[in-house]
Amino acid sequence: AKRVRIPHLQQLKDRGEPWPMLTAYDMYTAELFDEAGIPVLLVGDSAANNVYGYETSLPVTVDELLPLVRAVTSAAKRALVVADLPFGSYQVSPEQAVATAVRFMKEGRAHAVKLEGGAHFAPHVKALTAAGIPVMGHIGFTPQSEHNLGGYRVQGRGEAGDDVVADALALQAAGAFAVVMEMVPAEVAKRVTHELRVPTVGIGAGPDCDGQVLVWQDMMGLRRGKGPRFVKRYADLASVVLGAAREFADDVRGGQFPGPEHVFH
Ligand code: KIV
Ligand code: NA
Repeated sequence: AKRVRIPHLQQLKDRGEPWPMLTAYDMYTAELFDEAGIPVLLVGDSAANNVYGYETSLPVTVDELLPLVRAVTSAAKRALVVADLPFGSYQVSPEQAVATAVRFMKEGRAHAVKLEGGAHFAPHVKALTAAGIPVMGHIGFTPQSEHNLGGYRVQGRGEAGDDVVADALALQAAGAFAVVMEMVPAEVAKRVTHELRVPTVGIGAGPDCDGQVLVWQDMMGLRRGKGPRFVKRYADLASVVLGAAREFADDVRGGQFPGPEHVFH
């Protein structure tokens, strides 16, 4: 199958066809999501919470994310793979952003990068784009700024809706090929989606975005407990995995595994 490229995503927007995006952090998920026809895979800094067991996305490093990016790009034959730039790896300067992104493109073989932030990060996006690196923006609720934003909360309510629109337009003008909007009112996301030429991707941003993204462990129920409102659960993998592990444990303790068919003589 042919590799998904940025113009394909633009075509989908132009035709009014919504497209799905999922996170992936390893080989099997990348293979399966690719086969399922997910055109864009994000190696999110959400690996912090979903792979490394950190409480927030802040501690995860470039060196921790790079091998995950490499695994996903090796396994996905068709999807466009976006590498998330982690906290501290691009905020310092446009130069730092380019240096970090080059590592993700070169060592990780990513096809694009994503970074959090609005108009203040337009110079970073511009420098990356000039260096030949496609950038996906990320505005609204930006988890790397959760301490500054006062926790997990919807962004862009009321007057602040105009700021979300202005941020999106600034990122587009700087060269971003798409903009993720996280936890913003559906009405604001709809406005941004209409005002932008490039695709928007929503997570908790209502039905009118051009694409929709979710963290795969959330939507497949590997992460347990009550998730955020914007997650729809498509499977209960925690039960499947827990059940299989318990059955294996019982089999070993009860002498039922290995059986004759598993044994060499
Ligand atoms: O890291 C991540 O998973 C993300 C998506 C939720 C957009 O940034
Ligand atoms: Na992220």
